[in-house]
Amino acid sequence: MKTIDLRSDTITLPTEDMRRAIYEAELGDDVYQEDPTINRLEEQSARIMGKEAALLTVSGAMSNLIAVLAQTRPGDEIVVGDQAHMLWYEVGSASALGGVVIRTVPNEEDGRLDLRTVEQTIRAEDIHFPRTTLLGLENTHNRCGGTVLTPEYTTAAAELAHQHGIRVHLDGARIFNAAVALGVPASELAAPVDSVCFCLSKSLSAPVGSLLCGTCDFVASARKWRKMLGGGMRQAGIIAAAGIVALDDMIERLAEDHANARLLAQGLARIPAITVNPDRVRTNIVIFDLPASISTSEFIQRLGRQGVKVGSRGGQRVRAVTHRMVEAGDIQEALKRIELVVREMEAAAR
Ligand SMILES: Cc1ncc(COP(=O)(O)O)c(C=O)c1O
Repeated sequence: MKTIDLRSDTITLPTEDMRRAIYEAELGDDVYQEDPTINRLEEQSARIMGKEAALLTVSGAMSNLIAVLAQTRPGDEIVVGDQAHMLWYEVGSASALGGVVIRTVPNEEDGRLDLRTVEQTIRAEDIHFPRTTLLGLENTHNRCGGTVLTPEYTTAAAELAHQHGIRVHLDGARIFNAAVALGVPASELAAPVDSVCFCLSKSLSAPVGSLLCGTCDFVASARKWRKMLGGGMRQAGIIAAAGIVALDDMIERLAEDHANARLLAQGLARIPAITVNPDRVRTNIVIFDLPASISTSEFIQRLGRQGVKVGSRGGQRVRAVTHRMVEAGDIQEALKRIELVVREMEAAAR
């Protein structure tokens, strides 16, 4: 029985081309900025994002943290959505290591922040208040189910922030999924913001790495912060080599993952006990709800024993993510096994 792992697109393994590129990579010491492969990846990343420069970091979480460290001071306040990855899944690093207060605005279902609410959240100058210095957006939005922010929305949000002297960081861990879904270049989604990061190690199938992009000054500062965090790497061109293949070859194919996610959502919608809205599935993340009669943790365990792995999103909510290592046929098979487990659990609950 084939295991169909829908927990995350981070489980994707490097392709043969990536392994070959890793083997053949030209290397140097990147702390001296002498690794030609890293330099090439950083130049390519900056070009793709339409920014002056880029920095390779170990992970999306490190990029987000460095974006905070380089654009705020301890005691500042940053504004993010209440479903933001930076808030939920990054161990509170912005507060613990950056010393900033994290203030939240409710995320709309589609990942946006209501801009009037954002405006009301921005602190006025007052001796009692921290300074609001950074707004964080996320595209695609993970906890909102892979939803996309349009260039128009991002522009409006950035204009508002900039009017108040606030910088904008875009957590674009899956920005290429958004770009493919909207049919626009990633640079258009990143143009309005001051800093943007994206991940190589999710849908793009590379083993490690994230790129943090912005102006030359910002990236110079980010490089120093990365060193302080212990993230100054040496012959990490072996990582960058796979990243270059990821950017060259793996972006266009994301449309397949999106089609499979829709297929999954449409199939789930046909299972009466499951609540899901296939129209809300824009990229490669499907979030669905189980009825109260079914324990989510037990469902995930039982389904795992049937060779389908999915993740919990809290409460009755389950998350399934499509990626290069699952095909349309696997989705049909996963649906059969999900239906079987739901039926068994419903019968046991009666
Ligand atoms: C939106 C978003 N931002 C940041 C990250 C963090 O990336 P990493 O796991 O590389 O630290 C993730 C990881 O899933 C993510 O979904």
